Amino acid sequence: MSLPAPNNRLISSWVDNAEAWTTAVRTGAIPSRRAGTDEAILQAIARAPEGAVIDVGCGEGWLSRAICAEGRNVLGIDASAPLIEAARSAHEHHGARYETVSYAELATRGAALGAPFSVAVCNFALLDDNVASALTAIRAVLAHNGTLLIQTVHPFTACGDGPYENGWREETFGAFGGRFPSSMPWYFRTIGSWIGELCAAGFVLESVTEPRAANAALPLSLLITARRALEA
Ligand SMILES: C[S@@+](CC[C@H](N)C(=O)[O-])C[C@H]1O[C@@H](n2cnc3c(N)ncnc32)[C@H](O)[C@@H]1O
Repeated sequence: MSLPAPNNRLISSWVDNAEAWTTAVRTGAIPSRRAGTDEAILQAIARAPEGAVIDVGCGEGWLSRAICAEGRNVLGIDASAPLIEAARSAHEHHGARYETVSYAELATRGAALGAPFSVAVCNFALLDDNVASALTAIRAVLAHNGTLLIQTVHPFTACGDGPYENGWREETFGAFGGRFPSSMPWYFRTIGSWIGELCAAGFVLESVTEPRAANAALPLSLLITARRALEA
């Protein structure tokens, strides 16, 4: 029997792994997060324009909770119903909402979900090969001049022994402790590919930074800030 297409397996892995992932995030079991990627995205959000935020691929909701604690309204969306359930049960607050919505569904449900948003944030959440569709859907729910923040694995450090070219890879979560029932396909993307996709989807790059832990030789992540381009 053939395996499901990587995109389907990617989505289902976040249902299978919801409990293990929630535990890993909430117990601080992901070293790069403690070393600086959490702080980097929080600082980027603090610098972003005021207004409502959509946390795209919010997972168990740690970032939405942090954004809400800063006094902003936030909508967290994720395709994984058990992760949305975990987010809701950790945080019922008038300033935060969580909805089980895939990026494909975002394209048609934006207005009902409260668009336009001032800021969209994707923290390690753009994982499939068709990033163009997700970016187009995000662009449609952003206000004119709205800001998009993407934090992702740094292509240089994530490349490993594989070729430096776009392609599917497999994450086993072995470094995070806990029992992750399913491995996750994810799509490795070069820096050039990230920038090309953003420009093609109607975004203007504002900055590309490479957060590093103090005294570390290599970056922890790639952090892209872009603005929704004005209509031509
Ligand atoms: C690595 S987790 C990151 C979660 C959260 N942003 C954080 O910082 O902890 C990736 C998340 O993206 C979600 N995701 C991936 N592809 C998605 C899609 N096409 N539609 C909706 N959610 C998706 C997964 O369900 C998962 O919760």
